[in-house]
Amino acid sequence: MQYFIDSANIPAIDAICRSFPITGVTTNPSIICKEKEDLKKILTGIRNVITQKRLLQVQAVAKTAEGILAEARAVRLLVGDPLAIKVPVSREGLRAIPMLKNEGFLVTATAIFSPQQAMLCACSGADYVAPYINRFDSICGDGEQLVHAIVNLFDASNIDCKILGASFKNILQVESIMEAGAQSVTIAPELFDGIVSHPMTDLSLETFDRHWNEVYGGASIDTLLNA
Ligand code: G3P
Repeated sequence: MQYFIDSANIPAIDAICRSFPITGVTTNPSIICKEKEDLKKILTGIRNVITQKRLLQVQAVAKTAEGILAEARAVRLLVGDPLAIKVPVSREGLRAIPMLKNEGFLVTATAIFSPQQAMLCACSGADYVAPYINRFDSICGDGEQLVHAIVNLFDASNIDCKILGASFKNILQVESIMEAGAQSVTIAPELFDGIVSHPMTDLSLETFDRHWNEVYGGASIDTLLNA
């Protein structure tokens, strides 16, 4: 499983990278705009935090394939690799994908809401397809079913393209699309506490601490062993 952080907030990215097994960071125009900061500063700031060890995903805003390619080149010049260009699915997006692949970019086809969109983008050469789970669930779609259908189509055609689950509003959505077969997920900073914690874990740890305090007065193991 690959975990991405869906954010352009540098302190949040930094804090999460220090604890979690993070493959990279995904952004989109709305996420970038939320920071209300110079674009160069945001992108270089993210790269400085994640270094060249993690993948940075930046979404193109141009509407033509040539424009998307020009944006991709400019982003690469600024932040280097590893870099994935997110391309919203459309006719021009499909045209842009092989052009980006020819120049060695990783490509994430994004804003996917149907299995056919995913299939077309994968056949055009996308490395990832990003179905939007909560946005689909919230219009009475079924994000989990969408991922199942994409997995089945890709399996049937032996397609080597990862599903990057995106747009989550709760932990159950994350869990269910992992079970449905997504190989990667991108999660907003505010959901990371939810995926690591559980009330029963907290309760168990409280019990361990109480017992330890009763017998050893809370001393650490190395203090006790080095005494
Ligand atoms: O990165 C794209 C996707 O995660 C959008 O999420 O929360 O705006 O639906 P959201």
